[in-house]
Order: sequence, then C-alpha cells, then structure tokens
Amino acid sequence: MSKTNRPSGKFLRAKARHVLFAAGPNKLSRGRLFKKHFDQSIDLKKVEITSPSWPSAFDGLRIGHVSDFHLGDLMPLDRALGAIDTLVSQEPDIVVCTGDVVDLHVNGALPLLEALANIGAPLGTMLVLGNHDELDCASALSLMAQSSGVRLLRDASCQIHHNGNVLTVAGIDWAKTSKQCKSKVEKVCDDQTHILLSHNPKAFTTASEVGVPLTLSGHTHGGQVAMPNRRGANLAVAHRYTAGVYERGDSRLFVTVGVGAWFPLRINCPAEVALITATSSS
Ligand SMILES: [Fe+2]
Repeated sequence: MSKTNRPSGKFLRAKARHVLFAAGPNKLSRGRLFKKHFDQSIDLKKVEITSPSWPSAFDGLRIGHVSDFHLGDLMPLDRALGAIDTLVSQEPDIVVCTGDVVDLHVNGALPLLEALANIGAPLGTMLVLGNHDELDCASALSLMAQSSGVRLLRDASCQIHHNGNVLTVAGIDWAKTSKQCKSKVEKVCDDQTHILLSHNPKAFTTASEVGVPLTLSGHTHGGQVAMPNRRGANLAVAHRYTAGVYERGDSRLFVTVGVGAWFPLRINCPAEVALITATSSS
C-alpha cells in the first residue's frame, strides 16, 4: 500500500475493475471462469528480429522477454513460475521483464523476481515498472527487485560488458502519454543505446527517432481478444502498436501480448513468453 497505508484512487479504480471483470464473474460462475482461464497454456513464442543498426558484436543475442504477469488472482505464483521455467529451458543470454509484475498488491512478488534472477542468464535480468506496479507501492517492489538480483531500470541505463564489447540497455518507468514517453526516452537514450525497455509501446516513436535499434514493450496484452490472422484487429483499440514486431527506419519494436491477463479471457491471443534472437543482417 502507499506510504500512508491509504490506497490511492488509481488503486481503488483498478480494484473495482478487477471485481467487475474478473473476481465478480468468477464468483457467479462458482470458480469455473478462473479454472478455465488457468487451463489455457502459456506459449513460447520465438521471434527473429533483424536491424541494420543492431551491434554486430551481439549478433544472435537471445533475449528472454516476459511481461505483464499481473501476479494476483489471475496469476497464482505457481503459474508464473511455470512460465519462467519455459524460459529457463531456452537458456537465454539476457532476460528482460517489461512491467506489470503484479496486478494490484506487491506482496508476494519477491519469489517471482527471484525466479527471474535465477534463470541465470549470463548478461543478467533487467526490469522496468508498468502502470500496475505503481498502484500499490512501487518503492517496495523496487526494494524486492534489488534484493532478488534483478536490475531495475527506472529512467536509467546500464552498460553490460561481454567479451570486450558493450551492450547498453535503457529502461523507463511507466509513462502514459506519447509526450511523457518522449520526455523519458530523450532523457535516457542516445545513439549509443542498443535496447530500450518500456512498458508502454508508445515510447517506440521517439526511440526510433533517437536511433535505438530495439525497443521491447508490453502493456497492451494484444487486446486479449483478437481476430484470427488479422494483425492489429484486437481489443487494444486505443493503441497503435498492439502485438508483434514493428519497424520505423532501422529501429524495431517488439510488443509481447504478455504472460498474464487483467480479465479471464483470451481468444486468438494466447499468453506467451518470448525468445527473441536479434541480428544485424538476415
Ligand atoms: Fe498489463
């Protein structure tokens, strides 16, 4: 909860939404709704991304990308840990989580963060916060990330040294509007940044203008309900970049549809963990 132990208006609105679209209908269905939701698999999605501006020293880098666990009623810890096990089996070089670790309460997030750190990717595990991570207590979640060994990037960047080469990863906190995203991206990215982590895919527009080769995002959940085989035809109608790979010049964006959900329904939009292979030429 917030420092004053009084829930914020945003927290209360999110909780009301959860009751209206998830907990309430589940109660009416005598638990069948959540059970059906939990019966749905979390897929492994393999993605190849090529950008001429990707650093050739890191050609073939394998990035484990997870997002939007929404740990809570719709994502029990064991389901989240199962998704992380899928990534463990792929032995990624680096793991990134693009926010919404929790749905409402931050309590209970530590084992999930520890599991992400314990994947043991040689280049480490990086995290940025999503809008849901700020509803309860972002600073408590930050402390958990710190103690788990996950590197949290809050409007910051870091350099990863590997075999004499440097990979620069930047990450921004939740930013709602394109204008807010622009201001944060301009503050933390420059033409030396290789990867930007941003919960909100809106950051891609500025990231591409700055020349960041790869932006990784979540947030949209791909709308959770989509038309089959029609890219972009989904319930995330308020978003321009909703799912998959996008290009602007030499820059690329991947938006994952996420591991979790905020309402217990996914149609033609299965939950996923992503394994991205980044290269500088095809
Ligand atoms: Fe989310």
